[in-house]
Amino acid sequence: MKVTAIGPANIAFIKYWGKVDPKVRVPQNNSISMNLSNLYTFSTVEFDPLLKKDTIHFINDNVNQPEINRVVEALDIVRRKAKVKSFAKVITKNNFPKAIGIASSASGFSSIILAALTSLGVDLGKIELSKLCRVISGSACRSIPDGYVEWDKGTGPQDSYARQIYPASYWKICDVVAIVSKKMKKISSSQGHLLANSSPFFKARLAGMSQKVKDIKLAIKKRDFSQFGKIMEQDALNMHAICLTSSPSLIYWEPATILVMKEVINWREVGDVESYFTIDAGPSVHVICQESDAKKVAEKLKVIDGVKQIVVNKPARGAHLVTSHLF
Ligand code: PMV
Repeated sequence: MKVTAIGPANIAFIKYWGKVDPKVRVPQNNSISMNLSNLYTFSTVEFDPLLKKDTIHFINDNVNQPEINRVVEALDIVRRKAKVKSFAKVITKNNFPKAIGIASSASGFSSIILAALTSLGVDLGKIELSKLCRVISGSACRSIPDGYVEWDKGTGPQDSYARQIYPASYWKICDVVAIVSKKMKKISSSQGHLLANSSPFFKARLAGMSQKVKDIKLAIKKRDFSQFGKIMEQDALNMHAICLTSSPSLIYWEPATILVMKEVINWREVGDVESYFTIDAGPSVHVICQESDAKKVAEKLKVIDGVKQIVVNKPARGAHLVTSHLF
């Protein structure tokens, strides 16, 4: 059966950085995120007993062999779960550039794995699906539940998965993404995680993590935007402090990344618009604001030197099936 799924990118308000068990992607700390409405991947999958190997095609993307291998690895996991041996045809399409700090592996693998399982008639439910996605891309486990999400690190692979903390409709905030470069980053986040331990500050980051998670959850519960924004922005800087001080060091920012960060802080200082930034493993800046300010924030970002594109996102549902196919 041919099945198509859409998987959203998500933005982490409290970041996942560093793994306890790199092979199955059990993280060092809980993370908190929101699924994004306008940044996503469509994937169509069909298993066919006549195929001699998996055929994988990325629309609009130059793809390299390690990326193909990772999709085959995801299909292998699905095959083991469904107890089948046949190969699949996969066509996948992002509506944004990959590897620039917008969680393309989360949107990609959540859509591929959901479509592949469904095409084999397997419905695992959201918890098991989240665990399966986690094994192939950590942040993909957070693209399964709807809306606002917490990934509980758990005690091991058996109970490390993401669940919804609030539906998308709970709080009207936006992620206005400023794309400042469309070049793929040189060091993937999978590699970056492995360097976290080499930072002399990583222990300090982890020591403050569970309190930070509690504090931001309380701010979300109260819809306290100022408190939420402060905690979120500090966590992004804290994560990048680990990257900068890892050995070798990781500098995911471009000059325009810093320009945007400074502007966002300046808008708050002069009482223009209250927004806060967060940055994943890449140069794009996610500017989080209240929905009523999104248009203004987008206009202001557009005129900053080096900003190439703006994408405004609302909180969204997690990965789900759709009826139109890519082949
Ligand atoms: O899932 P990965 O390996 O792409 O790691 C994601 C890491 C960050 O985007 C930097 C943080 C996060 O929690 O999404």
